[in-house]
Amino acid sequence: MAQFNLPPNSVIGKGKTYYAGTGAKNVRRFQIYRWDPDSGENPRMDTYEVDLAACGPMILDALLKIKNEVDPTLTFRRSCREGVCGSCAMNIDGTNTLACTKAIDDVSGEVKIYPLPHMAVVKDLVPDLTHFYAQYASIKPWLQSATSPPERERLQSKEDRAKLDGLYECILCACCSTSCPSYWWNGERYLGPSILLQAYRWIVDSRDEFTGERLDDLEDPFRLYRCHTIMNCTKTCPKGLNPAKAIAEIKKLMIERR
Ligand code: SF4
Ligand code: SF4
Ligand code: FES
Repeated sequence: MAQFNLPPNSVIGKGKTYYAGTGAKNVRRFQIYRWDPDSGENPRMDTYEVDLAACGPMILDALLKIKNEVDPTLTFRRSCREGVCGSCAMNIDGTNTLACTKAIDDVSGEVKIYPLPHMAVVKDLVPDLTHFYAQYASIKPWLQSATSPPERERLQSKEDRAKLDGLYECILCACCSTSCPSYWWNGERYLGPSILLQAYRWIVDSRDEFTGERLDDLEDPFRLYRCHTIMNCTKTCPKGLNPAKAIAEIKKLMIERR
């Protein structure tokens, strides 16, 4: 049987445990991935006991409590704390989701938290999204038009506007792309579900006049066609969106225009 060995510096070690005080009434344990590139040490899992009786209901509340009261070195992104900015995306209890909208009560037992999978880690729970954002820029996520602008707004019929529902809500959290096996293996060249959903958002916008060019840009064995309809993306999206369907719609348009 073939044996594979991980590079020694990738092995996750056991970290420190921070116990709740003796007066704690309702203790839950959080196991959190820690890695500091400046330390030269391997990653480790630190364990924090949190008294839920003195904590808000969401995973992000627990992370903030740990950072504020126990360990200020714990590093993660967050901003809006209401599922709008997408910055608190991480892997919680085995699923990519938003820490601010995931209730602690929805996880049974110890809560295991890792950064989004298959991305380079900047520190602790912060993934490096540089390439992801470059891919987003590559689809030109703005309205493109060749004709001179009207004096007032660019109007849309109600039916055309409705075509953007299920697309405009995407907050670019990257939960879907980092759950996609095709993106794990071909992320350098495959755009992944998040960026393709965004691409489709502009392709179906009746006000955009560059639909053909946008499709030309995606007509590529890697940028679009690495999607094999595995559906992890749709299963994990914390906003309930369906990137796999958006990708299927782009493929349909490709066939229709041949
Ligand atoms: S449906 Fe496509 S984009 Fe979604 S997880 Fe599967 S391969 Fe990835
Ligand atoms: S489609 Fe969903 S999971 Fe993917 S980036 Fe948008 S909001 Fe996040
Ligand atoms: S903090 Fe903005 S989505 Fe969670």
